[in-house]
Amino acid sequence: MKVLVAEPLEPLLRHAVLPPDIEVELLAEGAPLPEGDHVGVVALLTRRLGEAELARLPALRIVANFAVGYDNVDVAAARARGIAVTNTPGVLTEATAELTWALILAATRRVPEGEALVRGGEWTGWGPTQLLGVGLGGKVLGLMGAGRIAQAVARRAPAFGMHVRYWSRTRRPAWEVETGVEWRSPDALLGESDVLSLHLALCPETERIIGREALTRMKASAVLVNTARGGLVDEGELIAALRSRRLRAAGLDVYAREPFVPPGLRELPNVVLLPHVGSATEEARQAMWDLAWGNVVSVLRGGEAITPV
Ligand code: GLV
Repeated sequence: MKVLVAEPLEPLLRHAVLPPDIEVELLAEGAPLPEGDHVGVVALLTRRLGEAELARLPALRIVANFAVGYDNVDVAAARARGIAVTNTPGVLTEATAELTWALILAATRRVPEGEALVRGGEWTGWGPTQLLGVGLGGKVLGLMGAGRIAQAVARRAPAFGMHVRYWSRTRRPAWEVETGVEWRSPDALLGESDVLSLHLALCPETERIIGREALTRMKASAVLVNTARGGLVDEGELIAALRSRRLRAAGLDVYAREPFVPPGLRELPNVVLLPHVGSATEEARQAMWDLAWGNVVSVLRGGEAITPV
């Protein structure tokens, strides 16, 4: 049984126990999917797997996406052919929540600006009004989405003295009772948040959910953080808001057309830019591999997928 594995996963694959009846073929980044009798694919989120791509592999039984998000996969097309689609939920939750806080802190305390000053040899000494940021204590952390990552971000909020509000299509009463987080309508959440952090899946309903109208509703003193998907934000509108200081700052790990980052964003001092590294810890990436590969083996053995989407 031949399984295509995205080539950059090779270091993880090297330590894996491969059953003798499974043959791995590495798939170079950017190379088109081969046509063949492969039964499985372990894909990166950078690979589009639409109906046309899937049609190249008539024997395919499983697509194991090496990510929790799966907007790169046409799940309906796969399902219509009986192909299992799996993702990697759970194992990257803490890593992504930690990175979300890294961005919240970096954006509110202007960490990259300070770092650039020191690194550039331009720091002339301590100053009482130098690089003033804003504190988090007593402020409102607004979460769009209430999935695993949003909840892990919320769990850390009391350590910073923040009050958590959230919006999600599905309300979570048990979570509200347990933790004191409060549900808000999207408009109320936008208006109330001092830090707004996005934790939604990208789909037609959520695409550019943060556009001109949403940004207008936000406080000028607020900070926007996105560790989910770049397509949730209208980047042109965000640039305009940050440039005119209708929004204080932003912290971004994801972009609408990766790896393209709009020059307008790169020029702004009040935005922290990371290269989509939310789950980039040694622990999370190993666990993502174990889960993706576990899904492949389980399905090819005739069992259930461990984490079907
Ligand atoms: C990363 O972006 C993921 O979806 O896992």
